[in-house]
Amino acid sequence: MQILRTVAELRQWSRTHRSAGQSIGLVPTMGALHAGHASLIRAAKSTCHHAAVSIFVNPTQFGPNEDYSRYPRTFSADCALAEAAGATAIFAPSVEDLYPNGADSTFVEVEGLSTRLDGASRPGHFRGVATVVAKLLIAAEPDRAYFGQKDAAQVAVLRRMTADLLLPVEIVVCPIIRDPDGLALSSRNIYLSPTERTQALILSRTIHQIECLAATGERNATKLIESAKKLFATVPQVRIDYIALVDWATLLPVEAAIPGTLFAIAAYVGKTRLIDNTILG
Ligand code: PAJ
Repeated sequence: MQILRTVAELRQWSRTHRSAGQSIGLVPTMGALHAGHASLIRAAKSTCHHAAVSIFVNPTQFGPNEDYSRYPRTFSADCALAEAAGATAIFAPSVEDLYPNGADSTFVEVEGLSTRLDGASRPGHFRGVATVVAKLLIAAEPDRAYFGQKDAAQVAVLRRMTADLLLPVEIVVCPIIRDPDGLALSSRNIYLSPTERTQALILSRTIHQIECLAATGERNATKLIESAKKLFATVPQVRIDYIALVDWATLLPVEAAIPGTLFAIAAYVGKTRLIDNTILG
């Protein structure tokens, strides 16, 4: 597995393999890798000749009072996990390398979408995500890029961005990987105290309840959301940011769930903001 430190190295690595007729899968991450990331790397390696994992804690997607400086940075462990999952390259640039002229001038903004769901409570977040992913796609020129359904709103923003910018890449979305008790894996789960970790299970329990209700025929959005809020109220320590039933492409609320509708939750467990979702069948 090769470690690439600069955009120039990444570009050269990608072009060498592509000119030899080999396909490239890119897995963008912020590091602190876990089994959820590993599933994306395995998916990339199983469908492409090469799987490149980018590890970059992107400053432009964090708000001023968010956890940029304390975000977990575990580079050696990340390299071991990525290699075991089949990665053939790690791209770990510096901030100066990805933002050579600073980060205050050129942005990619998917208007509308970027202010919905997480974008509503984290102003500027999706602009930072779209900007850095556009840079990574332009630098790596992958055939496919792999993202987790865990960040479903991010997927909607990035699908729209790549379509609008005519970027020649296929976006592949992989299922949410969970701990055995249901908690969706997240690099931020390490912030949770043991008590908070137990409280956090209300997210996946609510997701499960809504899946069951929808499967038994309840399609009314108001009723589904009311029922989710009622269950959430049983763990008052967890504060809802949003509970929403939306069209996955536009992130706009729907009145009735149809197959493909996104049911999504964001909530604060202590100071930690967690998200979870399901695509209703
Ligand atoms: P990060 O939070 O590190 O996540 C990297 C990728 O792993 C994302 O596509 C995310 O959806 C996926 N992922 C996280 N937890 C997962 C889980 N439990 N199951 C499956 N996939 C999971 O998302 C980002 O980084 C950044 O915003 C990034 C796209 C890298 C841009 O900076």
